[in-house]
Amino acid sequence: MRRINKRLNDKKHLLVGLIVIGVLALGAVAGAQYGWKPGGMPSSEAIAFAERTSDLMTNTVVAALVQEINETTPENVQEGNLSIGLIFDDRNPSMRLVGTLGPLRQNDRPRDGFERDALAAALEGEPYTDVDRIRGRWFYRRSIPLSNFAPQCALCHTNFAGLPSTEYVGALMLRIPIRPRYGRP
Ligand code: HEC
Repeated sequence: MRRINKRLNDKKHLLVGLIVIGVLALGAVAGAQYGWKPGGMPSSEAIAFAERTSDLMTNTVVAALVQEINETTPENVQEGNLSIGLIFDDRNPSMRLVGTLGPLRQNDRPRDGFERDALAAALEGEPYTDVDRIRGRWFYRRSIPLSNFAPQCALCHTNFAGLPSTEYVGALMLRIPIRPRYGRP
């Protein structure tokens, strides 16, 4: 009786083992199909797609910033502050203005490893990019250094007054989700 039970148990284990292997194999095939590489890194096509997206987004967001800065006068500083604050809504993680010089909202400080490294590079005038996993999801991350390039900067950021126009004061940081299907025909 014991023997029979043992045999049945062995069979059960074998079956469970086979099912687990089957599921893993199916997962690997499906992953390859959708462009994930083994080891979890997204495919180079999916990364390149996110990078091209970041080029478009950089142009759009920089154009919006330049527009807002060009419209700023000593009379409309408060309105401009509100407008920029709404565009760079703190709830939107896809685009952030990051710096360590005030007028700082706490939210504008670097928030993670990428932002700290990118800000350090930006203050030297260097752009920075990375492919980064955040809570299990992959992102193409990019930082565009910002210098004190217009006299209007100091109308809103009074502490930028007196800094040379070539001085780097922070960065625009973008984050584009990388999806396996992106970049596939
Ligand atoms: C009309 C007002 C206004 C003008 C002009 C302006 N900014 Fe800002 N800036 C803001 C506001 C408001 C924020 C905070 C946005 C937010 O909520 O994240 C900000 C945030 C920033 C940050 C992020 C952290 C920090 O230091 O507060 C940087 C860096 C920055 N701006 C750089 C610049 C530069 C460089 C210029 C000129 C080329 C400029 N800004 C012009 C209003 C302005």
